[in-house]
Amino acid sequence: MKNILITGGAGFIGSHVVRLFVNKYPNYNIINLDALTYAGNLENLKDIENKSNYTFIKGDICEHDAVKEIFSKYKIDGVIHLAAESHVDRSIKNPFAFAQTNIMGTLSLLQAAKEFWKDNYKDKLFYHISTDEVYGSLTENGFFTEDTAYDPHSPYSASKASSDHFVRSFHDTYGLPIIISNCSNNYGANQFPEKLIPLFINNICKNKPLPVYGKGENVRDWLYVEDHASAIDVIFHQGKIGETYNVGGFNEWKNIDLIKILIKTVDTLLGREEGSSESLITFVNDRAGHDYRYAIDSSKLKNELGWEPSLQFEEGIEKTIKWYLEDKEWVKHVTSGDYKKYYDEMYTK
Ligand code: NAD
Ligand code: DAU
Repeated sequence: MKNILITGGAGFIGSHVVRLFVNKYPNYNIINLDALTYAGNLENLKDIENKSNYTFIKGDICEHDAVKEIFSKYKIDGVIHLAAESHVDRSIKNPFAFAQTNIMGTLSLLQAAKEFWKDNYKDKLFYHISTDEVYGSLTENGFFTEDTAYDPHSPYSASKASSDHFVRSFHDTYGLPIIISNCSNNYGANQFPEKLIPLFINNICKNKPLPVYGKGENVRDWLYVEDHASAIDVIFHQGKIGETYNVGGFNEWKNIDLIKILIKTVDTLLGREEGSSESLITFVNDRAGHDYRYAIDSSKLKNELGWEPSLQFEEGIEKTIKWYLEDKEWVKHVTSGDYKKYYDEMYTK
């Protein structure tokens, strides 16, 4: 029996991790701690919410006393920490929220784990989920490896880099058993439509302009979210304490080329003339501090733990687009109210 605290489990990646663990490990108690910010959505977990090995707690990871109480009430053995402010554009508008949740919230969890486990670290693990953005930006060639020096550029990546350093410092200073993984861009069902792929699918459906930053030449490495969840499972169970693992899809796309695939697939699925929505492409001002290229070398994870992505991009993106077209209620709920305000502020000024 294990009691595992998953933070941010109502968010995009977290909900896929919670589902995987609840279904695959009936002998684990999965405790999902999530503040339900704009990005957290319990609709993501409707299919598992009544399972007997699952508990949801609405709460803020920054509230240290409440976090300590959770450790002691549920006798937590393992933490998979995903809760974060995760959108780069929001971090440019409001960096404070990113420092608060991503840095102070991580510290609050680390300190609670250290105090509750009281140096008896046998079979305990604090697993921190991070991003490839901490490594900065690549030019045309090369990959981020686990040894690449940190060089964050946005307030988001700076806050994630800082949280990674705190996690490692708890290992080096107090011997806390930690693992960190740094992953590339995820795509799939349940992603909040402020990120490129769900935002553009939604806009194509509604015949709204597609705001491409700069010339659309930036490059990202895309990984299907369920493959990230399976990597997290493998790393949680087989990863070596104190290590970092890079997770990526070896699947690089220039934004503009990816956007054309989205257009072609959505047009076809909606019975429009193929490519007719290309007229929606609108080049807008570039994102400040926009990293040119991310590309992850995940060969350590493959060679040491045997993990590889299971889906080809063409299959994953079609599945994803179909999900957004079919799950209209989910899209309708998350794009009403506050979303509209956010959208107007970001894209119409
Ligand atoms: P998300 O924004 O979809 O979800 C974040 C979740 O954290 C939400 O459910 C939100 O309610 C919760 N949360 C936010 N602040 C909280 C707080 N103070 N206390 C408790 N819960 C809080 O994010 P995501 O895209 O699923 O990313 C999850 C993690 O993975 C993040 O740490 C992110 O940095 C990392 N990551 C994301 C990607 C990606 O492409 N999305 C890639 C690599 C790493
Ligand atoms: O690399 C991992 C990171 O990927 C995660 O750590 C972040 O949480 C996640 O948000 C993501 O960051 P990006 O900034 O790469 O993702 P986003 O979807 O915001 O943007 C992808 C690319 O598309 C980027 O080059 C900016 C561009 N873009 C984005 C938006 C929202 C546009 O051109 N127009 C847009 O409206």
